[in-house]
Amino acid sequence: DEQKQAYRARIKALLAAKDAVLVAHYYTDPEIQALAEETGGCVSDSLEMARFGNQHPAKTLLVAGVKFMGETAKILTPEKTVIMPTLEATCSLDLGCPAAEFSAFCDQHPDRVVVVYANTSAAVKARADWVVTSSIALDVVDYLDSQGKKILWGPDKHLGAYVQKKTGADMLLWNGACIVHDEFKANALRELKKQHPEAAVLVHPESPDSVVELADAVGSTSQLIKAAQTLPNQHFIVATDRGIFYKMQQLMPEKTFVEAPTGGNGATCRSCAHCPWMAMNGLKAIEDALLSPSGHEIFVDAALRERALLPLNRMLNFAK
Ligand code: 13P
Ligand code: SF4
Repeated sequence: DEQKQAYRARIKALLAAKDAVLVAHYYTDPEIQALAEETGGCVSDSLEMARFGNQHPAKTLLVAGVKFMGETAKILTPEKTVIMPTLEATCSLDLGCPAAEFSAFCDQHPDRVVVVYANTSAAVKARADWVVTSSIALDVVDYLDSQGKKILWGPDKHLGAYVQKKTGADMLLWNGACIVHDEFKANALRELKKQHPEAAVLVHPESPDSVVELADAVGSTSQLIKAAQTLPNQHFIVATDRGIFYKMQQLMPEKTFVEAPTGGNGATCRSCAHCPWMAMNGLKAIEDALLSPSGHEIFVDAALRERALLPLNRMLNFAK
């Protein structure tokens, strides 16, 4: 509508005037993803967001996603101004893994290599030997396992259990979960599969094991999009945040995508799988961040930053 058009026009002008680039995650709302695409920014998974911000020449990175993504950008490029639509956009994995407690857990197991998911605070990353995103978790753990290492993994128990099962590595898991993916239900998914027998099932590994077991493809957001492009199926049932449907439909207008069911007792809940923190990235918040960066800017303590950079760089170099 007209108001949104006006926002878009003003944001485009501000991005250019401030030498800023919009880096958005696939879980943000379609209009935010479209804006990133139209303005030469990027829409991607967490790993690619980190890479893009790291390599892009803009002075300011406007990160539309959740806080750990902004922090990662700041750790990688401290010379840039990193702003976010809101600093309130957190993540249940980050919230469920306080640095002091996690650090104490690590201290109890000094014989283990500490591997943390990117969905953590700068302070937790600073305690880690490796950072991984869901797109390279398997490869990194496989490598560490081949070196005979025992692993302490945090914070996502589902992703950890998935990686453990696939690699056979010795992994001790922190007990965290994503509130969005934790809601997918295996029984209801089995019912939905009966209604769509020709559909392939795509599952993000932050989902419970019982749901992952029903998948035809498991992977990060980018990997799920790629799977939908590669598999011969015309229909897909998708167990991840519904923000991803924007890109899937854009790339594959001839295919159909159905949301995997969430909710208890086999009941299906439509359009429930949407991260409340990703949803905070609206047009108004983006304009506010560009107009008055204070209150939107990400700062990371210098000592923490230096320490957290080591495991982050290890990930980026491994992924090359
Ligand atoms: P990826 O995009 O790396 O798969 O991450 C999923 C996620 O939950 C980010 O919040
Ligand atoms: Fe965190 Fe889950 Fe939201 Fe991703 S979808 S930001 S893992 S709460």
